[in-house]
Amino acid sequence: MKTYFIRTYGCQMNELDSEVISGLLEQRGLKASHDESLADLIIFNTCSIRDLAERKALGKLGQVIRSRKDRPIIGIAGCMATSKKETLFKKIPGIDFVIGPNNIHQLNYILDHLEQERSPLCRTDPTFTHELDYTMAKRENPIKASVSIIRGCNKRCTYCIVPFTRGPEVSRHPNDIINECRDLASKGYKEIELLGQNVDSYGKDQPEWNMRFSDLLYHLDQIPDLLRIRFLTSHPVDITRELMEAVRDLPKVCEFVHFPLQAGASRVLKKMNRHYSREEYDEKIALFKEILPNVALGTDMIVGFPTETDGEFQESYEALKTIRFAHAFLFAYSARKGAPAARWEDDIPKEIKEKRLRQLLEVQQSVSSDLMQEMIGQTVEVLVDGTSPKDPSMIRGRTRCWRNVIFPGSPDSIGTLQSVQITGFSHQTLFGKSYFPHNLYRS
Ligand code: 5AD
Ligand code: SF4
Repeated sequence: MKTYFIRTYGCQMNELDSEVISGLLEQRGLKASHDESLADLIIFNTCSIRDLAERKALGKLGQVIRSRKDRPIIGIAGCMATSKKETLFKKIPGIDFVIGPNNIHQLNYILDHLEQERSPLCRTDPTFTHELDYTMAKRENPIKASVSIIRGCNKRCTYCIVPFTRGPEVSRHPNDIINECRDLASKGYKEIELLGQNVDSYGKDQPEWNMRFSDLLYHLDQIPDLLRIRFLTSHPVDITRELMEAVRDLPKVCEFVHFPLQAGASRVLKKMNRHYSREEYDEKIALFKEILPNVALGTDMIVGFPTETDGEFQESYEALKTIRFAHAFLFAYSARKGAPAARWEDDIPKEIKEKRLRQLLEVQQSVSSDLMQEMIGQTVEVLVDGTSPKDPSMIRGRTRCWRNVIFPGSPDSIGTLQSVQITGFSHQTLFGKSYFPHNLYRS
């Protein structure tokens, strides 16, 4: 084995895991290949969250296997590894190994085995017990780095497969997180994104650490060379006043909170086992707006959950219209085998799910363009992370509220904060001009 290729599906946690896997492989002496038709080792880091994500990965995998008569070593990682385990060997002949998200530390052992003997191996532990060495992660972006702070999920929303594929919540020791962030800052990374299925649960499984998520933010905000801190994802039940105050008071922590509502109607939320009613969600938003009026909120919404009526769907529609989320990720429900809701009839016809999804997409598009229209004339802080792919005289970056901005500038400013006046927008991208000819915030 000399070269490898990794194809990643799904969430940021999977992307981070792929960066760690790449690092492990390079440590082993393998080189990255950009060509799936040539690599000696191919890993599909998969996602099981929706049926479409699984079908996409399986379709592509079958295609790769059929096209490679030379039989490269092929592995399946990620959530599908845990949800389907050994059945994958039967389902897709040609796979050599299956490695779950809680087993990445065993990759070398698996590859050693396969180098000696070409017999299939499956490792999918139910709980994350071996913390990974992130220092060797091969990071794709030189400006922004993801940092895992808690793995797994204890929430058990009835539609969701994640608690079964990634296991229960396991927080990472704060010293390890702080050291990793310091190390990243010393290597020139400017933004860190703290990752967890539910970051606001951080530390609850380790009460003796006496470290809540908001406390962790206070520690990280002190790291001198870091410019920005983000976090993803928050559960409305666990979000606290202390967290909201930390976002308000800590200059590096961006005022953007991804805070999924999932459905507008309380009866559906109850059936989803979200642990909050619509009124309680709205109360959290009101508190957020009181503490931090300029906070930008993000949500995920599911349409067509079993038994969702037209009237209940309307409540989701109205929620998007009135709450005015800056970012919304919208999905049609798909039953996931193993998740509690999969035992119920998936009774909303596909056409109705698609219609409801289209309606939500439309309302969100209109909310989003209204919000961007309101930004015209405002001056915002942008962390520059590259040049525009279409025009190298333009640079691009994100605002604190995670909007894309493109504006004229030099690649020298990559990795700096710029003050940009918004002049217009198209689709999801804002356009602007530097507010001052020089950089206000050079680090
Ligand atoms: N069907 C559709 N969407 C789902 N999500 C999770 N499980 C399902 C499912 N079975 C969505 C939720 C979650 C996001 C990551 O994916 O909105 O917040
Ligand atoms: Fe899934 Fe709910 Fe956990 Fe999010 S909080 S990962 S939707 S079970």
